[in-house]
Amino acid sequence: MAVDLLLGLQWGDEGKGKIVDVLTSKYNIIARFQGGPNAGHTLVFNGKKHVLHTIPSGIFHENTANVVGNGVVIDPVIFKKELDKLEEQGVDYKASLLISRKAHIILPTHRLLDAASEASKGKAKIGSTLKGIGPTYMDKTGRNGIRVGDIELADWKDKYRALADKHEAMIAFYNVDIQYDLKELENEFFEAIKVLKTLKFIDSEEYLHQAQKAGQSILAEGAQGSLLDIDFGTYPFVTSSNTTAAGACTGLGIAPNKIGEVFGIFKAYTTRVGSGPFPTELFDEVGETMGRVGNEFGATTGRPRRCGWLDLVALRYACQVNGVTQLIMMKGDVLSGFKTLKICTAYNYKGQVIEHLPYNIEAENVTPIYTEVKGWNENLTEMTEASKMPKALNDYIAFLEKELEIPITIVSVGPDRKQTIVR
Ligand code: IMP
Repeated sequence: MAVDLLLGLQWGDEGKGKIVDVLTSKYNIIARFQGGPNAGHTLVFNGKKHVLHTIPSGIFHENTANVVGNGVVIDPVIFKKELDKLEEQGVDYKASLLISRKAHIILPTHRLLDAASEASKGKAKIGSTLKGIGPTYMDKTGRNGIRVGDIELADWKDKYRALADKHEAMIAFYNVDIQYDLKELENEFFEAIKVLKTLKFIDSEEYLHQAQKAGQSILAEGAQGSLLDIDFGTYPFVTSSNTTAAGACTGLGIAPNKIGEVFGIFKAYTTRVGSGPFPTELFDEVGETMGRVGNEFGATTGRPRRCGWLDLVALRYACQVNGVTQLIMMKGDVLSGFKTLKICTAYNYKGQVIEHLPYNIEAENVTPIYTEVKGWNENLTEMTEASKMPKALNDYIAFLEKELEIPITIVSVGPDRKQTIVR
């Protein structure tokens, strides 16, 4: 059976966790393929909010297997905290949570290196979540990393010590003021490793291969967004993994010809957290309203998100890179009350009108060209049927479908599972 993908098409925070949760009942397996605790996937049901960082968003459903794939990086300390929260809520994850032996482990010194690297960059900082993501992927590609499978080996602590010592020398090299007590961090880390060891480790590519052969349905859950992809994002203001469709192949061992539907998630406007270019960013009351009404604060760091109009140049690019087959529009409810809405359909790039994403999208190179459309006043948050949607919202959706040439099959109008309209 084909593997479906669910990916964010903007700079992350599109609402992937909610949609995975909504779609989970259709799948036997939910699998994360990249990223790590930099992600914050928020799910709301039965009046309660749940935030997951590394654990797949299918964990609240009985009979769904949840795979943390080889492309993910795991911080045992944060992972343990996530498990503690699940336990508090009475979620039995022991049988359904499966960890790839090939997933890499974030060490305490990876986090410190992240902080030292950012501090050394001054104004040019990436705006990292400081979870050690970049340094861990650097060790992975540098062939120095420690993987989940390693902690089953007798001598893994020697390998740990050698790597942590090297990291300490690197931290000193940055020559920035980073205060830390490594002994304390290590105590916490090794305690968390003990908990990690109680979980099921698997050869995830083999597990997923057999599952496909047996006709099981699989949904690969992306983290971050396409514009944060290490290759196709707004480099260097990106994360350190492939967040796009190809990342699901390398992050789970799924062959490209086994991919079925590609669900692309986007917000009805645009947000970004951290540094980097953002052509349609708003610095006025409109952007402030989007942030306030949309509760645009990072689920992992609590930082306020930058807000702006929908950018179809960037969205078209993300659809192409991912091969999106269905679109899911989030947070249409946040735009209620604006008299007119702007949609960026092209850029003025060095005096030329272009419709593709150029190499440089900094403000000095790119000016968005907008189409203005009518807004809607209705409160959408109670709406459950497509037939009840206001005309202006239907027109907005029809405009996007025409421009992107992909159907919008789900419209989300609030954080709760129930606030989901299937078209
Ligand atoms: P890092 O992956 O934590 O190093 O962060 C690199 C950049 O990606 C920063 O701009 C972060 O704000 C951004 N980022 C990382 N993870 C997420 C996410 O899950 N949502 C939104 N932005 C993210």
